[in-house]
Amino acid sequence: MKTLINTDIKVAETFLRAGKLVAIPTETVYGLAGNAMDENAVTEIFRVKNRPTFDPLIIHTDNLEKVQKWITFFPEKAMLLAQHLWAGALTLILPKKNSIPDLVTSGLPKVAVRIPNHPVTLKLLENLDFPLAAPSANPFGYISPTSAYHVENQLKNKIPMILDGGNCQVGVESTIIDCSEETPIILRKGGIEIETIENLIGKVKIQTHSSSNPSAPGMLKSHYAPRKPLIITSNILEKIQEFTTSKVAVLSFQRTIQHSSIYENLVLSSKGDLKESARNLFAFLRQLDNSDADVIVTEFVPERSLGRAINDRLRRASQN
Ligand code: TXA
Ligand code: MG
Repeated sequence: MKTLINTDIKVAETFLRAGKLVAIPTETVYGLAGNAMDENAVTEIFRVKNRPTFDPLIIHTDNLEKVQKWITFFPEKAMLLAQHLWAGALTLILPKKNSIPDLVTSGLPKVAVRIPNHPVTLKLLENLDFPLAAPSANPFGYISPTSAYHVENQLKNKIPMILDGGNCQVGVESTIIDCSEETPIILRKGGIEIETIENLIGKVKIQTHSSSNPSAPGMLKSHYAPRKPLIITSNILEKIQEFTTSKVAVLSFQRTIQHSSIYENLVLSSKGDLKESARNLFAFLRQLDNSDADVIVTEFVPERSLGRAINDRLRRASQN
């Protein structure tokens, strides 16, 4: 199959209506989208991604009225978040109606829902009366794609179309929250800061560490992983001196690191800006993974606002 790569929303719509898959841009990462109501399309998503079916999918749409058609109940705190933060990098876990196929939720009674904030994809979703199931458009376990080019590198000729919406402006996946209990639970740290959420609905619990429990899936310990070993250290220079190889790739937060063994050094944000760091994170990890270096050495960024999501991704990426 030859993959079309362009900005034609009408063509994307035609493929999706026919039960085919299209990679779509969002502000977080690119998604691999198919009609969530069509079990064949959903099965194809799992197949192309090589994703285990116990890891459920997020459904995407463009407005709250549509969301109401697919869920039985909207908890108050979830509604507050939806009203303030959608369209945006936030996924709500909501009780589903039977019309949402069990395949989408891996048999769970709740479905993950998001309204993404990307002009091209919002336009596409406006024209559709069904939601799009869309996991990140990367092979399962690998680094998520933040440009059409990243998707092309990995899924070329496996899907009919990549809708090109440029580079993703947030760069890490959505924050996932379940508001069905008195104290809401963050299941994945992501593009909307926990501080922003707590300002709206009060204290939340953070529960992002289960590794193989299907009731809180996708939070698999090893994820977002490059092929090369990724080592996190609090002292990059000292770490480099331990290696025998002279081909070390370095992903540093703010400063350039000087050492004769450094093959390539990318700096997430020379200004120390966490938004810029998040936007660069996956693209830089990919670039270093595709270089001739033998190992990637990195460091944590400050553990606040988007830094929490960045550090979470680094931690999981280093466990391979
Ligand atoms: O930013 C994003 O969320 C991107 C873009 C494309 O929207 N999507 C994304 O999808 O990151 P994916 O499939 O890579 O990650 C979705 C996560 C999975 O880890 C999954 O386990 C969790 O959402 N999830 C989905 N449905 C769930 C449910 N019913 N209960 C708990 N977790 C759920
Ligand atoms: Mg993913």
